[in-house]
Amino acid sequence: MTALTGIDNAVTSARQPETIRVPEIEPGVGCNFDSYLLVPDTSLDDRIGRAVARLGREVVILGHHYQRDEVIRWAHFRGDSLRLSQQAAAADARYIVFCGVHFMAESADILRRPHQTVILPDRNAGCSMADMASIEQVEACWDELESVGGLHVVPVTYMNSSAAIKGFTGRHGGAVCTSSNAAAVLQWAFQRGDRVLFLPDEHLGRNTAYRMGVPLDRMVIWDPFQPLGGHTPQALRAARILLWKGYCSVHQRFRPEHVDRARAADPQVRVIVHPECRWEVVQKADFVGSTEQIIRTVVAAEPGSHWAVGTEIHLVNRLGKELTDRRVQSLDPNVCVCTTMFRIAPQHLLWVLENLVEGRVVNPIVVDAETKAYARLALERMLALC
Ligand code: 13P
Ligand code: SF4
Repeated sequence: MTALTGIDNAVTSARQPETIRVPEIEPGVGCNFDSYLLVPDTSLDDRIGRAVARLGREVVILGHHYQRDEVIRWAHFRGDSLRLSQQAAAADARYIVFCGVHFMAESADILRRPHQTVILPDRNAGCSMADMASIEQVEACWDELESVGGLHVVPVTYMNSSAAIKGFTGRHGGAVCTSSNAAAVLQWAFQRGDRVLFLPDEHLGRNTAYRMGVPLDRMVIWDPFQPLGGHTPQALRAARILLWKGYCSVHQRFRPEHVDRARAADPQVRVIVHPECRWEVVQKADFVGSTEQIIRTVVAAEPGSHWAVGTEIHLVNRLGKELTDRRVQSLDPNVCVCTTMFRIAPQHLLWVLENLVEGRVVNPIVVDAETKAYARLALERMLALC
């Protein structure tokens, strides 16, 4: 159970360095990734273990819960976006290897100390939701809102956004949020302005604001491809929250009929979903919570309980495998996999670690200084609230 959750931030899954004898790693093996595609699966673990042991305290490996088993087992710390950003801010190691997606590694680079370097094992591990709000679109939106006049908007951006958008948010007096703390950050923002521009996930924004008492008819969707987001100035003035038209392609797959079917198939089942799911799904579920909250709830449930979970499949399968005294399955029988998280393969992890052993940094993630300063402000506003 501890291995599953990593809730106590213990080093739960990485091989223990002191138990491994460390043979020399051949000089020169590390530089070219293509050669790593040929590393047989049987030797991957040994080589990763040796590299981790050689690097010792020089490296910390952070792993998001949606990573595949072969990768997450090497994480010194597991977590959702919030916990991993806290870990990145607290880490001492010189190298932070982030097994997650690009926006998470950028956030770690924004929060890191000067002597540290953040590495993303595969730079192609992006996030389709983060890509749905470009800085140019968000700047244009802000200009349009200003042209309406008198709106007093505070921007809040979900962690799942680019460093540029976090920088924009910090520069305009706003804060970052994650799915664990979105209500606290929204409350903070509502105290500072008349309305909130929530980027880039319409579902998290709607689900959170609704639970805080904002009625649906005081929410509008901002479509970046329409003038004024698709609204009249009057409609914008009447709104409490402007929801950017973006979504997670994994969580948006869950539909209300999946909840109905799960209940029809098993009347005992309890449904728990992530707040990136559609509002209609969240309304039907028994529980809604961030990744970390989902884990806590299912782990704390009584043995024998049945769960249908609306989140990424690697986490759901891991819960099912490790909590053998209860039934845990996906809310959607068709696989809901985050293909960009899945890009990080053990081969990539081995590649970056063996290069570090040889003194080479591959795939560093570096946010420029000006963006970093404002993005840090937005992230620190969030971290101060949780
Ligand atoms: P959390 O880690 O905040 O639960 O977000 C889920 C997610 O989609 C990460 O990309
Ligand atoms: Fe992005 Fe969704 Fe994947 Fe998270 S699960 S990285 S929000 S696509």
